[in-house]
Amino acid sequence: MDKKKAAAERAVEFVQSGMVVGLGTGSTAYFAIEALGRRVKEGLDITGVATSIGTELLAKKFGVPLVSLDEVKLIDITIDGADEVDPQFNLIKGMGGALLREKIVAYASLEEIIVVDDSKLVDVLGTCSPLPIEVAPFGHKLTKTALEDLGCQARLKGGEKPLKTDNGNLIYECKFEQIEDPEFLEIEIHLIPGVVESGLFIDLATKVVIGQEGGTQLRAKN
Ligand code: 5RP
Repeated sequence: MDKKKAAAERAVEFVQSGMVVGLGTGSTAYFAIEALGRRVKEGLDITGVATSIGTELLAKKFGVPLVSLDEVKLIDITIDGADEVDPQFNLIKGMGGALLREKIVAYASLEEIIVVDDSKLVDVLGTCSPLPIEVAPFGHKLTKTALEDLGCQARLKGGEKPLKTDNGNLIYECKFEQIEDPEFLEIEIHLIPGVVESGLFIDLATKVVIGQEGGTQLRAKN
């Protein structure tokens, strides 16, 4: 079985009737939404909260009932993908452009289960993936310069035809050599006016399900 699919389907086993479930965005989260849809048809009684307009459409397609985040007090479990995962479960997320809603949903979640294939595991964040940062369109070139002053090379997602996020913002993909101190970098990024949110997810993931050769591996935070 596809590694991403295997990880997503294992994560879905944690979902029980009565739960509010955060629905992630991306090709791995896709398999989780598909599997949840199958379980809903078999009688699982859940309500989903989507992390993007794309995910909202998928949930409707697969028959997962939806509510908006403002209609719930908290989320029991969110299942979402990631671009990189370090040994402390810190993440880079947002290469699919949905990081702002994903981070708001993760923050509201009792459990944040990250589903990845084993190519996403790194010792130090920034090793493979750039860090996506959502910025306001107003003055975004100055925001880019301020981001580059932190030691990265920033590229506007979409280039000549910039991608607009579901929130009407832009994304800069910021390539750092290696992010040795993600907590400190997160503070520095948020000090820049114009930054809406960064794709650093620190201390939010509670479990990681890894799809690998021959099956899946579950890692849980104590
Ligand atoms: C979208 C995300 C995705 O979860 C992340 O990019 C991983 O995607 P995929 O599962 O397709 O590899 O953060 O904003």
